[in-house]
Amino acid sequence: MLVCQCNLISTRDIEDVVVAVLDEDPWQLVVPARIYRELGKRGQCCGCVPNLVDIISKVTETYHLRLAGNAANIVDVRLRMKSLRKSTRQGGESERRPKDHRAA
Ligand code: FES
Repeated sequence: MLVCQCNLISTRDIEDVVVAVLDEDPWQLVVPARIYRELGKRGQCCGCVPNLVDIISKVTETYHLRLAGNAANIVDVRLRMKSLRKSTRQGGESERRPKDHRAA
């Protein structure tokens, strides 16, 4: 079925792109702009965006349900976020203040 009349994008095109993007990283957020970019198109009237979001949600949910069947592929998001936070955090203990320092 044709979803985007301006760019002639079908449901199948969108589903293929969503699966390809999720194959790269199963937990990344897929947004309509990413679909347009992957297909080399641009939103024009953007009347298709609500349908695009519905298809993305449906395909993502199905993808994750399929992943849940194989527990070895499930990535612990909390652990990944914690490691990202640790690697990017610059403040806190590196302020060179003694531990018993009090501002007031
Ligand atoms: S219908 Fe998709 S941009 Fe117009």
